[in-house]
Amino acid sequence: AQPVIVAIDGPSGTGKSSTSKAVAAQLGLSYLDTGAQYRAITWWMVTNGIDIDDPSAIAAVAGKPEIVSGTDPSAPAITVDGVDVSGPIRTHDVTSKVSAVSAVAEVRARITELQRSIAVGAARGIVVEGRDIGTTVLPDADLKIFLTATPEARAARRSGELRGVDVHSTREALLKRDAADSSRKTSPLAKAGDAVEVDTTDLTLSQVVECVVTLVEEKR
Ligand code: C5P
Repeated sequence: AQPVIVAIDGPSGTGKSSTSKAVAAQLGLSYLDTGAQYRAITWWMVTNGIDIDDPSAIAAVAGKPEIVSGTDPSAPAITVDGVDVSGPIRTHDVTSKVSAVSAVAEVRARITELQRSIAVGAARGIVVEGRDIGTTVLPDADLKIFLTATPEARAARRSGELRGVDVHSTREALLKRDAADSSRKTSPLAKAGDAVEVDTTDLTLSQVVECVVTLVEEKR
C-alpha cells in the first residue's frame, strides 16, 4: 500500500494525542506529536535563559537546539541535544510559555521543515497531530481531521490528566493558550477547508478512534 498521511489538528484538550496515537497503532503507522516539538524548543529556551518576551532573542537562537522526535506511537520519546525531555516538556512552566515561542516565525520555519522531513521518511505512512498540519505543514495530506469539543469538556479532560489542578483554572489557561495560538500571524491554529470536523464532546475515545480509522480506510 502507498504510505498514507493523516493530519489531526484542533485546540488543546480535544483528544488529539490519544486519538492520533491509537489510530497510528491500530493502522501500523508512525506518529508525530508536533506540540511536543514546540514544547521541546521552549524547554531549551527556558533552560538557556532566553527572554521569552523577546521574539528577536528567540529568533536569533531558533536554529541551535537539535530536536529528535521518536515516531513510535507506543513510546514517542523526544530529545533535545541528546537529553530525553519527555517529562520536563509537560510542566506548567513550559505549557505557559510555549505559545509565545511557537509564534516566532523562525521557530515555525525550523520546526515545520523538521516535520516535513519526518513525514516524508515514514515508509508506511504517519499520523501527525498539531495546530497547522492540514493548513501549512502537510497541505497535501490524504486525510485531514479537525477535532473540537466544548471548553468545559476540554478543561475536564485536562484537569483529569493533571491531577490536583482545578477545572476552573485549567479552563482559563487552556482558553488563553488557544486564543494566542489562533490569533498569531504565522500559521495560526485553523481548520483546513478540506478537513473533516469531529466534535468529540459527547464521544468516547474509542468512538473517535473508530471514526478516524474508518475515514483513513476509505482513503486507501
Ligand atoms: O499539543 P500541545 O498542547 O502539546 O501543543 C503545545 C503548543 O505548541 C500549542 O499551544 C501551540 O502553541 C504549539 N503548537 C503549534 N503548532 C503545532 C503544534 C503545537 O504552534 N502544530
